[in-house]
Amino acid sequence: MNACLIRDFIKHAGETVTIRGWVANRRSSGKVSFLIIRDGSGTCQAIAEREAMGDLYEEIRRLPLESSVTVTGQVVEEPRSPGGYELHATGLTILQKSEEFPIGKKEHGPDFLLGIRHLWLRSPRQIAIMRVRDALVRYVREFFHRNGFTLIDTPIFTTTVGEDSSNLFSVDYFDLGKTYLSQTGQLYLEAAIFGLGKVYCLGPTFRAERSKTRRHLTEFWMVEGEMAFFEHRDNLELQENFVSFIVQNTVRECADELRKLERDIEPLKRVEPPFHRVSYDEAIEILRKNGSDIEWGSDLGGDDETIITNLYDKPVFIECYPKKVKAFYMKQHPERPELVMCADLLAPEGYGEIIGGSQREDDPEILLKAILDNGLDPERYGWYFDLRKYGSVPHSGFGLGIERTLSWICGLKHVRETIPFPRMLYRAYP
Ligand code: 4AD
Ligand code: MG
Repeated sequence: MNACLIRDFIKHAGETVTIRGWVANRRSSGKVSFLIIRDGSGTCQAIAEREAMGDLYEEIRRLPLESSVTVTGQVVEEPRSPGGYELHATGLTILQKSEEFPIGKKEHGPDFLLGIRHLWLRSPRQIAIMRVRDALVRYVREFFHRNGFTLIDTPIFTTTVGEDSSNLFSVDYFDLGKTYLSQTGQLYLEAAIFGLGKVYCLGPTFRAERSKTRRHLTEFWMVEGEMAFFEHRDNLELQENFVSFIVQNTVRECADELRKLERDIEPLKRVEPPFHRVSYDEAIEILRKNGSDIEWGSDLGGDDETIITNLYDKPVFIECYPKKVKAFYMKQHPERPELVMCADLLAPEGYGEIIGGSQREDDPEILLKAILDNGLDPERYGWYFDLRKYGSVPHSGFGLGIERTLSWICGLKHVRETIPFPRMLYRAYP
């Protein structure tokens, strides 16, 4: 029999339909049971009365949560019901009577829940987050598609260090020795701009960072754009349009989910170009005025970013960091060689860095020096130097972390809930 989706009840008011799903909640008395059924498309209340159910009623009345069932009944309009409809059951089949579900009404700690992530993914909050993630990624792709970018799928096994050698996962690769799990697709995107102009990648990214913070995963998804004939300023303009597009569309489409997550969306509605721009020099001054003892020349830490973003009502770019705290490929500042033409984009409300981007170094001599200064092996960069030999042009790009952006949009304290199966310093199961 064809099952009806709860989402489609609106088309079946008054009809008798069959739904299949799981018992998400249940309230029973001697005469009537109210079952909340979840079917993957939505949830509804099914009303099962002893009179209609007969002998089965005693079993329904005690049906454990998460049991799988099919329910046949009449779709009845009920404005007080969450979806506007309820199902008056005339028949019910138990597909599998669940064992006692480990997640109940009481508060559970994050370690317990992460250990049963495969079951936790069924809770309403996790379902809402996964739906927002789906919309976010869809609008990310949509932005690039609308703006003339071509998707380039970059490799996961790499022999060229993409960012820095301090946080690589290495893998034995047959007779070729070690390869690394990719830290970025950027270097390969740079190769692709010569044929395609504007390109992007979206895929898993690996960082063996021993950081146990609310912003770090060892495996996360990054979307990166790379554009020929783009200088630093063009890069920032594209990024602010990109971030505004994905935030506005996701917030509009996911109003119900964000309400479920109790996210106040007013601050997100203000995410419109232009974003604030603050130089690294100014950022250090601001931080020192606000009680930080950061010295010029250090990278900004998570706490520093929180201080800065709390001062602004929109995302803020921090531009032109010292060369020594940033990756080797960033273009040296034309007047101040100790700086690079880069920007990090910090999300407001204390969220901090969601984008790292820069114009790329196109002078082979400066690039070679930067590779050596970073303790990297120039032999492995032959192909990357070729890109500076055959029709080199100014180019720029950026990378946005999907999980950090999602935790900002959803108003979550930690990135661990933004990815179906988080990989962290102390967690690789389930
Ligand atoms: O600033 P990052 O390291 O920049 C790059 O990888 C460049 N190659 C991007 C480019 O120019 N094409 O990383 C970019 C973003 C960060 O701003 C952050 O949002 C996210 O990736 N990110 C992480 N997210 C979760 N866990 C981690 N350990 C992350 N490391 C970076
Ligand atoms: Mg960064």
